[in-house]
Amino acid sequence: MDVFNKCTVNMGPLGQYADQTEGYFMFPKLEGEIGNKMLFRGKERLIWSLNNYLGLANHPEVRKADAEAAAKYGMAYPMGARMMSGQTDYHEQLERELAAFVGKESSYLLNYGYQGMVSVINSMVDRKDVIVYDSEAHACIIDGMRLHFGKRFVYPHNNIENLEIQLRRAKKMTEQTGGGILVITEGVYGMSGDLGKLKDIVALKEKYDFRLLVDDAHGFGTMGPTGAGTDEHFGVQKDVDLYFGTFAKSMAGIGGFIAGEKKVIKYLMYNMRSQIFAKSLPMPMVIGALKRMELLRTQPEHREKLWTIVNALQKGLTDAGLDIGNTESPVTPVMLSGGVGEATQITFDLRENYNIFCSIVSYPVVPKGVILLRLIPTAVHTLEDVKYTIKAFKEVKEKLLNKEYSTEMAEV
Ligand SMILES: Cc1ncc(COP(=O)(O)O)c(C=O)c1O
Repeated sequence: MDVFNKCTVNMGPLGQYADQTEGYFMFPKLEGEIGNKMLFRGKERLIWSLNNYLGLANHPEVRKADAEAAAKYGMAYPMGARMMSGQTDYHEQLERELAAFVGKESSYLLNYGYQGMVSVINSMVDRKDVIVYDSEAHACIIDGMRLHFGKRFVYPHNNIENLEIQLRRAKKMTEQTGGGILVITEGVYGMSGDLGKLKDIVALKEKYDFRLLVDDAHGFGTMGPTGAGTDEHFGVQKDVDLYFGTFAKSMAGIGGFIAGEKKVIKYLMYNMRSQIFAKSLPMPMVIGALKRMELLRTQPEHREKLWTIVNALQKGLTDAGLDIGNTESPVTPVMLSGGVGEATQITFDLRENYNIFCSIVSYPVVPKGVILLRLIPTAVHTLEDVKYTIKAFKEVKEKLLNKEYSTEMAEV
């Protein structure tokens, strides 16, 4: 059998819809300056699907810093992996600033959040150790665990009672193997917007003696009094042993970091294969990230504006009778009932008739019968945008209840 057979026979859970969806629901092209309004298929739409939470993507100081660094250094410098030939003072400066911002001793840059997380997990555990993780963990956490030779126990999303059961099992096992326990949760869950129950989790540390790794991709820059993250929000920064952030969201860039105790970060520097055997972040990304960090620290107005929009949107949607689940973060899911066909019809209606662009999620990412439309408010949205969107969603829900959407996939 040719290994390429699957490319035509079984395109996979998402690929099976490629013919009907490509270019519209999947791989859509958003054009123009990143902001609240962008072009989709040549027409201006109100965009609610970018994680540009603080609006930094197009901040003039950020654009200037990025451009000047690119002009000065090009995109190539430094060449090679950090360990071999890719080290610079700027990389180290950014690491010091990130560590200070999130309240840790030390941090290390990751050339992509995803690969970085895979290697953080892979480096921190060996076959004697046990991983305990939340069932809704991001793909990068799952992939990190796939490299783990030891046991792993999952607890249902945010179910602390069950987490304790898994910790009991893990403790029993590590008492035999002589290993340790690593618990992994997210700070903000990126689909539902609810928060990992960090307070409840850290309360179990004394009894079960584990280390805690928090993926705070959506919380870094958005959560906590200074934007330092979900652990700052809960007041448990010192109990989070390893804090992971990405530059792909609030920082509007590329890359990420892991922060923690100095000796642990040093160990990771010498052991994370995806960093040892891959190129260092190019200088414009690093200098650009330093500028973004400066704005995070000195211009709280972006986070304040973000939360003004978040609160107005979430309150407005709820008041209009829409179900936004248990979100406590900027991520705003709108839950409706229906199949994949109706999900595509609703999205088509929103895009074509209301000029609203948001992401849809349906089965198998969410349970059968649930349609999740995900809105990402940002500091560059306006209260007018919010008002318009709430009205549109109210109308869409009414149409759905009146069975005005067909159950066939929308033709695009
Ligand atoms: C929860 C979470 N973790 C990790 C990542 C991966 O980060 P990156 O885009 O920097 O690879 C993402 C997505 O960006 C994410 O949402």
